[in-house]
Amino acid sequence: MATSHEFAVDRLPASFIPPIALDFSSETPLYRQIAMWFQRTILAGQLQPGQRVPSTRALAKELRISRIPVLSAYELLIAEGYFQPFAGAGTCVSRSIPDPFSPPEREGLPSAVPGEPKSAARRMVSRRAATMRGLARAWMQLCAGCTDLDHFPIRIWSKLVRRHSQKASADTMGYGNSMGYWPFREALAEYLGAFRAVKCDPSQIMVTTGSQQALQISALALLDPDDDAWIEEPGYPGTQQALKAAGARLVPVPVDGHGLDVAYGIRTANRARAAYVTPSHQFPLGVTMSAARRMELLSWAARNGAWIVEDDYDSEYRFSGNPLASLQGLDADERVIYVGTLTKVMFPTLRLGFAVIPHDLVETFADIRNAMDTISTPVLHQMAMTDFIREGHFSRHIKRMRAIYMERRKVLAEAISAEPPGILEVVGDEAGMYLVALLPPGIDDVEVATRAARMSIRVRELSRCYASPPGRGGLMLGYANVKVEEIPAMVRSVISIVRASRVRH
Ligand SMILES: Cc1ncc(COP(=O)(O)O)c(C=O)c1O
Repeated sequence: MATSHEFAVDRLPASFIPPIALDFSSETPLYRQIAMWFQRTILAGQLQPGQRVPSTRALAKELRISRIPVLSAYELLIAEGYFQPFAGAGTCVSRSIPDPFSPPEREGLPSAVPGEPKSAARRMVSRRAATMRGLARAWMQLCAGCTDLDHFPIRIWSKLVRRHSQKASADTMGYGNSMGYWPFREALAEYLGAFRAVKCDPSQIMVTTGSQQALQISALALLDPDDDAWIEEPGYPGTQQALKAAGARLVPVPVDGHGLDVAYGIRTANRARAAYVTPSHQFPLGVTMSAARRMELLSWAARNGAWIVEDDYDSEYRFSGNPLASLQGLDADERVIYVGTLTKVMFPTLRLGFAVIPHDLVETFADIRNAMDTISTPVLHQMAMTDFIREGHFSRHIKRMRAIYMERRKVLAEAISAEPPGILEVVGDEAGMYLVALLPPGIDDVEVATRAARMSIRVRELSRCYASPPGRGGLMLGYANVKVEEIPAMVRSVISIVRASRVRH
């Protein structure tokens, strides 16, 4: 039986094929091994229908064998319908390949059906991986497109990328500094000093692949398995993942209207090795940590030899009052590792994040980073980003987006307050790219979000940010990527879903 496939293009170009390992001591003839390798690879989807395969001459040369077994393998694959020859234009993977689900007449061919167990033996993964199961998947599915890309200055950005991508140079293509591209670190140090009151010199900055990698590196550098680490409750699921991956024990510390309840943390786990916090705009509740709590946290860390990881993920978007100083800027004992990201101001796939590391920890962090990835995050975008900052596009873009997001937040808050009270209760400061609305007690936010998604409204549930069962559900309503005129209708739909939801006791 054959399955037919539709293609947009006639033939796809030849491309690299995965390496073929031949076993010269095997009783299976070489031609048969080659044919079986192609069958497996095609059925596993690693070679696409229509894709050109290497010529018999080229493959024989690559495998350092005579051309005869390769010719025989290709003849067999053509006869079996896996390959399709084109006179004068090489050979391609057939557009009509044999159905992988039909019983294997090709004895000796291992199963290539995705997900099907290969043997009866157990396929064990670590306990650590099991604790993280589902966390990322659930999160991504409900992630409303976070940034507004319609207003992103794509022409300027592509010009800057082009500027640095037009010549082959060791700077862009060679082994660079694993801490990151020096001029980018200089530009970041200046920006962070001026706008976030971060005290640093560029040698303390490590450029990372998104701030998630900075969180991971910090966890691996600072914590041993089973060390206690304070996390905010509720807090950022990405932090939980990074800490779990390092084997740390999570100590959820409640957040109230002043930020992290430091006294609770001290009572519960005074000897914790680290505290992970979002003091400028608490994720997800949106509160700002008070000055008193900041001092309390810093003095706890200094007294106990603990570390503080400050995740400053979206503080560019504050709509009222002066920009806030970072916790790192208040720290007299170099206890704070400051983590930032360009995901919110630029775009998520840029994957540019950074950590500002206390002087005496720089080498330790560099060692961990080198163990993960010996070269830095791709330099090309760091170069373009340096120019984007230096030429003033960054601050212009932030200013513009701040006005746009402020307007959207205002419209969203007004739309909620126009509805009867007690259904959506807004909490948090005027900042960021989403607002949090608490649901009436007993309403399950996962159920509300699932029903909203059916109406194409994507909201994140507050309960997913809790390490232990939450007292009250809520929704994180992202407004950064929503058109102003769509907001009132969106709010009305969410309200009607909440009203129709069952109250659980
Ligand atoms: C609290 C917090 N930290 C960090 C990030 C950004 O992570 P990344 O830089 O890896 O995209 C996010 C993104 O949503 C976040 O909400």
